[in-house]
Amino acid sequence: MKVKLGLIFGGMSTENEVSVMSANSILKNLDKDKYEIFPIYISKDGVWFEYLNLDNIEIDKNLSNTKELNNIVKYLQNLDIIFPVLHGLYGEDGTIQGLFKLLKKPYVGCGVLASSVGMDKAYTKIIFDRANINQAQYIYLKKYKDKYIYVDKKFNEKYMDLDEIADMVDRKLGFPVFTKPSNSGSSIGINKAKNKEELKEHIKHASEFDNKILIEEGIEGAEVECAVLGNEEVIASCVGEIKSAEEFYSYDSKYENENSRTIIPADIDKEVSDEIKRLAVKAFKAIDGKGLSRVDFFVEKNSNKVYINEINTLPGFTKISMYPKLFEAEGIKYNELLDRLISLASN
Ligand SMILES: Nc1ncnc2c1ncn2[C@@H]1O[C@H](COP(=O)(O)OP(=O)(O)O)[C@@H](O)[C@H]1O
Ligand SMILES: [Mg+2]
Repeated sequence: MKVKLGLIFGGMSTENEVSVMSANSILKNLDKDKYEIFPIYISKDGVWFEYLNLDNIEIDKNLSNTKELNNIVKYLQNLDIIFPVLHGLYGEDGTIQGLFKLLKKPYVGCGVLASSVGMDKAYTKIIFDRANINQAQYIYLKKYKDKYIYVDKKFNEKYMDLDEIADMVDRKLGFPVFTKPSNSGSSIGINKAKNKEELKEHIKHASEFDNKILIEEGIEGAEVECAVLGNEEVIASCVGEIKSAEEFYSYDSKYENENSRTIIPADIDKEVSDEIKRLAVKAFKAIDGKGLSRVDFFVEKNSNKVYINEINTLPGFTKISMYPKLFEAEGIKYNELLDRLISLASN
């Protein structure tokens, strides 16, 4: 009997298109003798569709090849395992995982808690602090109505205006700093500020995407990534490096600029890459990860000091994405990686 595998893609986040590309690569590489595939597309406005072409996933404006699903729960109940190939909000943040859990369906990847912690940069930082994993110094702010609230490490809150915040950042972190909406992805809403004036503008910009905002000390160095796979017994891949074509790895640099490159394995000392692999597994366990994650780090120039940046619980999954490429470099082929992920599915 073939496994009835639901492949859910698209989604209500800014990464809808990336997800469609990931799902197409996955569809093409799944073993059709093992799996009966049920592709499901979620549009940007949250409508669920059965996707009718089993050879190629490509979404056009007219939504051809799709049929609206009128009973999502019933449709999902008919499946054996669900593979959510969704990036960003409402896909990588635990919300859809909650639905699968409610339906008692095994699904690929992280559970509700790990997904939401991994998606929320402020809470990821709190867990990493607790796990004693080195990371950039940061300041956590909330926006409430027209005001900003500084939340200290013990969760004490204090209203502050932007000038006071800029002074505090200058004192505690120095420049440059990165401003980030806490719940975001694909670098959206993220900026680098070199002085107080820029910082104030960037805080306002970040607050358009989320009421939780992080301000982080800027780390100068290499950007590297490590893939992990497993539930209790977790393996780490080799380390890969991102060579951003722009000053930092912005949306444009990630998806539009063809001069951004990846180098596998990264050209770093063995002790440094061993340390990164160890920390990748530690970070994954610290957030209670399951299945897969890609863990991103900086290696500081000159000092070679390792800083964790973030954990992505559903990283890009096209054939040329970092996650599968890192394991391919370890001798785990793309289709085998899919089989392993599906066999790790739990609920
Ligand atoms: N503290 C930092 N120091 C230096 N560069 C940073 C820092 N934080 C983020 N960046 C740059 O901004 C990019 C996007 O930030 P990141 O936290 O990875 O957000 P996203 O979840 O959107 O990928 C990173 O890939 C990196 O180029
Ligand atoms: Mg990132």
